[in-house]
Amino acid sequence: MPWFGKRALIAAAVVSALPLLAAAQDTERELERYRQMLTADPWSNPGLLDVDRGAALWKEKRGPKNVSLERCDLGRGPGKVKGAFAVLPRYFRDAKRVMDVETRLVWCMEKLQGFSRAEILKRPYSKANQPGTDLEALATYVAHQSKGFKFQPSLRYRKEKEALAIGEALFFRRQGPMDFSCATCHVEPGKRIRLQELPVLVKPEVARREIGGWPAYRVSQGTVMTMQHRITDCYWQMRLPQIDYGSDATIALTMYLANQAKGGEITAPQIER
Ligand code: HEC
Repeated sequence: MPWFGKRALIAAAVVSALPLLAAAQDTERELERYRQMLTADPWSNPGLLDVDRGAALWKEKRGPKNVSLERCDLGRGPGKVKGAFAVLPRYFRDAKRVMDVETRLVWCMEKLQGFSRAEILKRPYSKANQPGTDLEALATYVAHQSKGFKFQPSLRYRKEKEALAIGEALFFRRQGPMDFSCATCHVEPGKRIRLQELPVLVKPEVARREIGGWPAYRVSQGTVMTMQHRITDCYWQMRLPQIDYGSDATIALTMYLANQAKGGEITAPQIER
C-alpha cells in the first residue's frame, strides 16, 4: 500500500473511532447514574436481600450436626461478627493458616455444622441467572456487619506478612498464554474493557474506595459476587486454569488488596456494573 494510502486509512480509523469513544463515555456516564440512583436510596440495594438471607443462615441450625454458626470465630472470638471483616484476611491458630472471610466460613460450616468441604465447594458462588449460594449470602452478611469500619489488616503474625508479600508478588507476576499479570489491567489509569473502566488497584485511594464494597451486588449478574469469585474471574480473563476456591494464592491476593485499601471504609455490598 502506498504511504499516503496507509495514512489516509489510519486517519479514517481515528475519525471513525471518535463517535465510538463518545458513545462509550455516554454509556459509562449512564451506568454511573444508574449506580448512583441505586445507592442514593440505601434500601434499593438488592444486595441487602443477601445480607438478610445470610443473617438468617447464620442463626439457623443446619448441617449434619444441626447447629448454627453463632459460635463461629471470625477472629474476634466465637460469635463476634461486628467489625470482624475489617481485620480479614488474618492468621487463625486453629487452622494454622491465613484465611479470608470465605475460607473461614467454609471452615466453620465444616467444623461446627459438619458439612463436607467437597459438598460446600461444589457451588461456592453463583453464575449469571442462578440463585445466590449460601456462602455468598453469609459472606455478604459478615462483610455488612463491618459497614462503617475501616480496613485494618492484621500483620502481627509471620504468616500474615508472608501472605502479603506473596500477594504483592502474584499481583505483578506475568503468567499464562497472554503473559498477563493483575497489573496489566489494574495499574495504568484510563484502561477499559467492554466499556468498563478498570480500577487502578495499586492506588490506595482507588483501592480504599473499591475493595471495601465487596461482596458487591452486580447488576449485570443479578446477584452478589464475592472476592473469591472476582479473583477467579480475573484469572479466567488472564486465560489461566481455574484457580482453587480458597487457595493460598487467592487469599494472598486478597491480603494484598486489603492492605492496599488500609484505612478505607467498608461499604459492602456496593453496587457494581
Ligand atoms: C485482562 C484484564 C484483567 C486482568 C489481567 C485482571 N483483571 Fe481484575 N478486573 C478486570 C475487569 C474488566 C474488572 C471489572 C469487571 C466489572 O466490573 O465487570 C476487574 C475488576 C477487579 C476487581 C474489582 C474492583 C472493583 O471495581 O471494585 C478486583 C479486586 C480485581 N479485578 C482484581 C484482580 C486481580 C487480583 C487480578 C490478578 C489475579 C486481576 N484483577 C487481573 C480485568 C482484569
